[in-house]
Amino acid sequence: MYTGLLHFHRMIAYVALILIFATMLKAMFGMLNKKSFTEGDRKLGLFALISGYVQLLLGIALIFIGPIMSYFSNMEEVMKNSELRFLVIEHPLTMTIGIILITIGYSKSKKADTDRSKFKSMAFFYLLGLVLILSRTPWQKLA
Ligand code: HEM
Repeated sequence: MYTGLLHFHRMIAYVALILIFATMLKAMFGMLNKKSFTEGDRKLGLFALISGYVQLLLGIALIFIGPIMSYFSNMEEVMKNSELRFLVIEHPLTMTIGIILITIGYSKSKKADTDRSKFKSMAFFYLLGLVLILSRTPWQKLA
């Protein structure tokens, strides 16, 4: 069960990274070229957001059913070991903050009343979220 969820989390990682990157790039392009914000732009942002939430749910499940729970009772050890610190604290926390930023971007873009401000919210918050997510992705496990 744990291995299956871990594989799924790794698979969706590619999808989420591509969708978040594509949304950010398209929003930047739309903003700079004064394009109209279309339903397609909104849907791309929504699918990126959904893939982020799928990752969040899978991540939480992995924490509860996997070995990570057992480390919570020994945080001193976790903080001393950089590999454990990454796995137990840095990865889950940074990814969650990244997904929250993307949620803010989607919601601000939905509420904005001009095409430019819709693109701007998406470009800015998706970029911030993406930078955080890229900074704590375990690349060696993705390759
Ligand atoms: C877009 C967001 C995310 C990406 C791209 C991502 C990516 C990854 C990757 C590539 C792995 C390694 C998979 C493997 O070893 O096969 C992993 C593991 C893991 N991730 Fe994420 N993740 C994301 C979000 C999250 C979130 C939000 C949480 C928790 C709240 C989380 C918790 C975990 C856990 C617990 C593991 C298992 C580590 C292990 O046992 O080796 N992830 N993640």
